[in-house]
Amino acid sequence: MQMSMQQIDTTQSLRQIIAAHRELKRTVGLVPTMGALHAGHAALIRRAVAENGVVIVSDFVNPTQFNNPMDLRAYPRQLSQDAQLVKALGADILFAPSVEEMYPEPDERVFDLSPLDSVMEGAKRPGHFNGVAQIVSRLLTLVMPDRAYFGEKDYQQLLIVQRLVKQLELPVEIVPCPIVREEDGLAMSSRNQLLSAECRREAPRIQQALRGAADILSAQGIEAARQWVTEEINRGGVLQTEYVSFASADDLMPMSNYVPGVTMGFVAVQAGNVRLIDNCKY
Ligand code: PAF
Repeated sequence: MQMSMQQIDTTQSLRQIIAAHRELKRTVGLVPTMGALHAGHAALIRRAVAENGVVIVSDFVNPTQFNNPMDLRAYPRQLSQDAQLVKALGADILFAPSVEEMYPEPDERVFDLSPLDSVMEGAKRPGHFNGVAQIVSRLLTLVMPDRAYFGEKDYQQLLIVQRLVKQLELPVEIVPCPIVREEDGLAMSSRNQLLSAECRREAPRIQQALRGAADILSAQGIEAARQWVTEEINRGGVLQTEYVSFASADDLMPMSNYVPGVTMGFVAVQAGNVRLIDNCKY
């Protein structure tokens, strides 16, 4: 029986509500988000609803994972819209705490995430993954879910969360979910709504370049593919690659030879003031 969704903002009420569900032997699914929900989040929530007795969606723009204060300020916030979607998708709880509620005291913990955090997003955004580890460990220990759902668009984050869960010995299954894309191929992201019309028009080029590299990768190897992807994305002068990396799906270390099923392509692109990431399996 579907109960109506509860929106709560304190850890104490969240604990109480979860304890009541646990009494009834319900399995618990958690979908951690920073809000500004889109079809990618909807896919995570739908899957969580299908696989668990009770589903909690957290909606919290975590300040400790932003290394750029302007990025934090610009990050879209639309809680009442999010609440409507979460309810329509059949999740049970929307947890939307304040910063003070989530961090009554500054979080000084430093996690050992190396070498996963030494490349790509970790190299370009110092402290970002430590902030992700801080909030994800808080949410996981607060909710103690059976399953937690993470999108593969943030593939590096996914591996880091899996590593974190092992380190902390948390009894949670991390469920990776495939990237959801707009019709034109652009990976769904809360940041897409911040794109200028020109950048939005050009942005599908990111995925086209990654996909298009498949043949070059097998015929000419990684360096040729890297150069081709970089040129394809930057052609037109609207998008600017920050990195293009072909790395191992297992440990994110850059690869010099293409291995089918293991090599993945990763890019970060500056599109005006907006930073976009995407990846591709080959
Ligand atoms: O992927 C995100 O939206 C965030 O990094 C997460 C996992 C919700 C932590 O704030």
